[in-house]
Amino acid sequence: MKKLFAALIFAAMPAFALGAGGNYPLDKVDIDLTDKAAMQDGLRTFANYCMGCHAAKFQRYERVADDLGVPHELMLDNVVFNDAKIGDHMKIGMRPDDAKAWFGATPPDLTLVARVRGTDWLYTYLRTFYEDPSRPLGANNKVFPNVGMPNVLAGLQGRQYIGCKQVQVVEDGKKQFDPLTGTPITHEACDQLTVEPKTGELSEEQFDEKIKNLVTFLAYSANPVKLESQRIGTYVLLYLAFFFVFAYLLKREYWKDVH
Ligand code: HEC
Repeated sequence: MKKLFAALIFAAMPAFALGAGGNYPLDKVDIDLTDKAAMQDGLRTFANYCMGCHAAKFQRYERVADDLGVPHELMLDNVVFNDAKIGDHMKIGMRPDDAKAWFGATPPDLTLVARVRGTDWLYTYLRTFYEDPSRPLGANNKVFPNVGMPNVLAGLQGRQYIGCKQVQVVEDGKKQFDPLTGTPITHEACDQLTVEPKTGELSEEQFDEKIKNLVTFLAYSANPVKLESQRIGTYVLLYLAFFFVFAYLLKREYWKDVH
């Protein structure tokens, strides 16, 4: 009974973890774990923008390269920045104590973060950093208030701040439209995330796509066997379909004399 109770608590843990960090509404993202181009792009972003601080130490470079169809040389040239070998785990050089002193918090390992937080959470978190001069590093986050992580994606996204924007009026959960013209009814709201135009390398759509790819990579990393189990699953179904025919023929044979 005790064991069952403990198991239930553990099963409920992701729910508690999700609860942490306010109730900012999460944007939904559709993750396609068969889209290798997306995962490769996500891996590139991860290596260039995240691995300075975060490791993915339960993954090996080689496994990732093979799963994502990246040749080993390309992997070594573009993803491995330290003197690690292709068979090594994806560790980083930063010491946890230093990180704690610099950021006030240790950047956690990200191998399994997509399981703990969920993909919608990650997708929203990575797009909702904004300028906040009251924070030590000048940045805050909508999903993770007072986060220790600096806004490392500002160069891509541009300067995001809380500003005023025309937003569509919503009543009883329904977006409101003008009954005569059919155009959305809007009002000015001044608590909106706003990106200063032309301050980032990417447009809003391109940035969202980049983050979606990064989250796809993190989702793969948290569940690398999923690709494999989908492939095996197909064979299992084919086998069952094939086996069914013989089972049926056999059944017919056995029952022939009974009737
Ligand atoms: C300059 C160092 C630095 C870089 C670069 C960085 N992070 Fe972070 N990150 C942190 C720190 C520090 C924290 C801990 C924040 C806290 O607990 O307040 C953190 C926290 C996180 C969390 C929250 C984890 C959790 O469950 O609590 C996620 C997710 C995350 N980072 C993802 C990323 C991704 C993805 C990138 C690359 C785009 C990235 N980080 C780049 C320093 C960094």
